[in-house]
Amino acid sequence: MSDNRGNFSGRIGFILAAAGSAVGLGNIWKFPYLAGQNGGAIFLLVYLACVFLLCYPVMVGEIAIGRAANSDANGSYTKLGGKRWGALGTFGILAGIFILSFYNVVAGWAFGYFLHISFGDLLNETDFGGFFGAFVNDIMDVSSTKGFASSNLIFSAVFMALTAIIVSQGVQKGIEAANKIMMPALYVILIGIIIYSLTLPNAMSGVKFYLIPDFSEFRIQTVFDGLKQAFFSLSLGMGCLITYGSYLKKTDNISKSAAIISIADTSVAFLAGLMVFPLVHFLQWKLQVDNVATAGPPLIFIVLPQIFSEMGPLLGRIVGGSFFLLVCFAALTSTISLLEVPVAYFVDSKKMPRKTMVWVLAGVVFVLGLPSMVSQGMVPLLNKLPFYPFIGENKQDWLTFVADMCDISLVIGGCLMSIFISRRWKIENMHAEIELSDVGYSTSFLKKYLTFTITYIAPTLLGVLSVLVILEKFFGLSNLI
Ligand code: TRP
Repeated sequence: MSDNRGNFSGRIGFILAAAGSAVGLGNIWKFPYLAGQNGGAIFLLVYLACVFLLCYPVMVGEIAIGRAANSDANGSYTKLGGKRWGALGTFGILAGIFILSFYNVVAGWAFGYFLHISFGDLLNETDFGGFFGAFVNDIMDVSSTKGFASSNLIFSAVFMALTAIIVSQGVQKGIEAANKIMMPALYVILIGIIIYSLTLPNAMSGVKFYLIPDFSEFRIQTVFDGLKQAFFSLSLGMGCLITYGSYLKKTDNISKSAAIISIADTSVAFLAGLMVFPLVHFLQWKLQVDNVATAGPPLIFIVLPQIFSEMGPLLGRIVGGSFFLLVCFAALTSTISLLEVPVAYFVDSKKMPRKTMVWVLAGVVFVLGLPSMVSQGMVPLLNKLPFYPFIGENKQDWLTFVADMCDISLVIGGCLMSIFISRRWKIENMHAEIELSDVGYSTSFLKKYLTFTITYIAPTLLGVLSVLVILEKFFGLSNLI
């Protein structure tokens, strides 16, 4: 290949970067609270089924498209399928820009909490819900009344700048290098906190809730939530893995890499639950209450800090600080992948200079995120969107709305991608791409399985689910069934 687009140094670099993209707020912030809301173990089962039956084939397909075309999301679809299919790439790039816009806001909160817990006096609070409410509400609070200057505007600007600095260094020196440091660190911190949390009183009750399924808890909502979460968590459906796949060498095995990425991502989500539920049940024991597990989105920002403060000033600072550092690492390896997608488009398809585009796009995404930032109370209209009434109390804000629309776009994107592979690009071409680096593939069961899932299962199931999810969001599920 005689181009200067950049490449990962090898399979390990690619796997770490793609796993870094996959492991993020989705695993540590979203997965535990979704599991908490959806009955714990039963959600875990549904989630695993989604990952291995549906998402794995989509992931292999995405990586194969990128590597075969050797271009960005738009460029790859255009090259393999013509201009009209290129629009699917553009749709994905736009979805990525919107994901990054709200994602960076939440990452900014995590960064702020890291600073507040490690260096401020957040753990002396008595009302953690109140603190979080005030924290996300007032984005310009630099008064330092909380013992620490607090401004989400600055926190998320810094986070976006860190992302931009890494992406501007290019694929190998920026993205790969950053992941090679942050991903191992992330595992070490995660496992350290799990070991500690398992030693706390009442930890086992949390483990039981998380691991022993109660089938009476099963609801159709669990399937929707599981599927959307699996797409989001694996970074599928918007061309992120097309882009990363395009930097993968022809000699590197696609199907094995995809399996490792899926397992790495799923194991971090699983471990995050194993870290959070013992902590939550420890708190229930301490406060003698029996339901803090389903705290929803604020779980890690309200319930966990309260737990850290129960640990005493020094230990709380150490465990709490490490926890939020872990969240920041996870988020950063994801934000760089999200920024890389539009950057790659402008570099490959539009022949623009990387560094300039990185900063321009980072600025644009940051501005796009401002409505999400002020939607947590500061601007009442954005806090309670009039056209979004079926989502439930406290979940009608702009940030949630954008996140929901992005989730849906990913499922639709995955559905259209599988249609693209089977009807336009043709499944044989995908197989040929995989075979380049996998000698046993042509006679394998995997090959048949991928043919079957990508041709029949993924388009129909994802198609039906996309429609149901849209209906559910705008008309309410209880009105449907
Ligand atoms: N997967 C990441 C998480 O779980 C988020 C993410 C990064 C993402 N890149 C993506 C989601 C591309 C969808 C598409 O936090």
